[in-house]
Amino acid sequence: MNGRLVGVGVGPGDPELLTVKGLRVLREADEVFVPVADTGEVGRAEATVREYLGEGQIRRLLFALSDDIEARERNWTNAAQGVLDHLQSGKTCAFATIGDPNVYSTFTYLARTVREMEPEVEVETVPGITALQDLASRSGTVLLEADERLALLPFTAGEESLREALAGFETVVCYKGGSRLGEVLRVAEGGGWLEGAVYGARLGIEGEDVVPASEMRGREGTYLSTVIFTSRGATRG
Ligand SMILES: C[S@@+](CC[C@H](N)C(=O)[O-])C[C@H]1O[C@@H](n2cnc3c(N)ncnc32)[C@H](O)[C@@H]1O
Repeated sequence: MNGRLVGVGVGPGDPELLTVKGLRVLREADEVFVPVADTGEVGRAEATVREYLGEGQIRRLLFALSDDIEARERNWTNAAQGVLDHLQSGKTCAFATIGDPNVYSTFTYLARTVREMEPEVEVETVPGITALQDLASRSGTVLLEADERLALLPFTAGEESLREALAGFETVVCYKGGSRLGEVLRVAEGGGWLEGAVYGARLGIEGEDVVPASEMRGREGTYLSTVIFTSRGATRG
C-alpha cells in the first residue's frame, strides 16, 4: 500500500507563522522530513519545526547546493528514495519547507521525483505564509488595492524580466536577488521604482533587517532577502 506525501509550508522564519493546520499535519505524520544543505547547517524549515517537535522526530534529507548537476541529481534521487521507503510501507510523510510549498520550493522537485519512482503515491500540500506576505506585514506595505496586479519573480530570471515586471505591474516582488542586490537596485532606480521600495532580510530570524531599499545602495544583500516595489511608492506611480 502507498502512503501519503504532504508538503507543509512552515512560513519564512518566525515559528509563530506556522499555521495551525501545518502544525497538526506535522504532529500527526508518521515521519517528518526537512531539507538540509550539504553544509550540514540546520536549515530554516528545520529550525521552525524544532520549536514544536523533538530533534529525534525529525529526519534530514540532504540536498546539494553545488552547481554540480550530477551531485544534485544524485541527491534528489537519494532523498526521494529515502522518503519512498517509508511511503511504500503506507506511512504519511510530511516534508517541511520554508514559506509555501507551491512557491519556489524544494518540495516540488521532491514530489516530482517520488512520483516518477512511484506514480501511485498521493501528494498533498498545506499552504504556508510566504516571505512576501511577511515582508509586507513587517514593513507596513499594502501589496494590492482595487484592480492592481502583482508580479512575483526571482532575480535569477534575469535583469530584463525584472525591468518588464516593473513596467507592467503595480506591485513587484523580487526573490533570490540577495547576492546581486546592487543590480536589482540599479534596474529599479533606472525606472524610478526605488522610492518606497522595501528590503527585508532574514525575516523572523535572528539578524532580521527591514529597511527602505534605497538604504541598501552600496551594501551587500543576503540569500534570504526579498524586495517589494509598489507603484504607490514609486515616483512613476
Ligand atoms: C527558494 S525561495 C523559497 C520561497 C518560499 N517557498 C516562499 O513561499 O516564500 C527562497 C527565496 O525566498 C525568499 N525568502 C524566503 N524566506 C525568507 C526570509 N525569511 N526572509 C527574506 N526572504 C526570504 C528569498 O527571496 C529567498 O531567496
